Amino acid sequence: MIKQAIIPLAGLGTRLLPLTSVFAKELLPMNGKPGVEYILDECIDAGIKEVVFIISNKKKIIKKYFYNDNFFKKIIKKKRDKRLIDEYKKIKRYKKMIKFVYQNKPLGTGDAVYKTKRFIKDNFFLMLLPDDLIIKKNCSKAMISIHKKKKCSVMASMKVQRKTVNRWGIYMKKNNIDKKNFFIRDVIEKPNTKDAPSNNAVIGRYILPKKIFKILKNQKKGKGGEIHITDAIRTLIKQKNKFIGHNFDGKYLDCGTMHGYIKSSLEIAKS
Ligand code: G1P
Repeated sequence: MIKQAIIPLAGLGTRLLPLTSVFAKELLPMNGKPGVEYILDECIDAGIKEVVFIISNKKKIIKKYFYNDNFFKKIIKKKRDKRLIDEYKKIKRYKKMIKFVYQNKPLGTGDAVYKTKRFIKDNFFLMLLPDDLIIKKNCSKAMISIHKKKKCSVMASMKVQRKTVNRWGIYMKKNNIDKKNFFIRDVIEKPNTKDAPSNNAVIGRYILPKKIFKILKNQKKGKGGEIHITDAIRTLIKQKNKFIGHNFDGKYLDCGTMHGYIKSSLEIAKS
């Protein structure tokens, strides 16, 4: 069973400046609720019991958000507001399941994952990238059920426009398992249009094996001078570890850019 999830939250959020000069992008409200709560709710609904947040000193505001129960307590004492009491209970429930770890240098997603090594107990764990919201259907839940059947790694996949392949990790398919799932032959981080093996992109939901930490320990910097999780996954595939690409049913919302954030907020408000 997959019981643990990790969420990299140390990114600088430069694509959302100026908001992110003083605020963590993952706390920005989408229809009145911080983006990261949608991610946490997806985890809880998928049966996850413990979540490791990778934050940085600059993003301590995220920890504060989940550790401010005394602030709620004081106000609730004076004012027994039903809405506040519910919010307080919700925050306390989240707090119980979250552990924090720090990544103070933005060295990339691979480095962020490596920071969680000492927390991961089981052979497989889930990772969710908070810029990628998936609504209407729980993508993590669907991936966990595929993992249960096939006992291997699973990653979310979505077709993107060919001209945008250099913004994503891109899959090379091996063979289809069924309409929604395929075995992955290779995956390339942000290829040029001419080098891209397909237009099937990696979306931020991954079921990864614990053994990825061994690879990450020596993982060299890749594209843009960052340590990419995609490169470590590539090595595991070369070592004959099975990875499945899952074309999810839900609706994808990109929250990592200003345009995407505004569009996603409107979309969530409608749904
Ligand atoms: C990361 C991954 C990339 C993936 C993308 C999905 O890129 O490195 O492979 O396609 O998330 O959102 P980033 O968005 O951090 O540039």
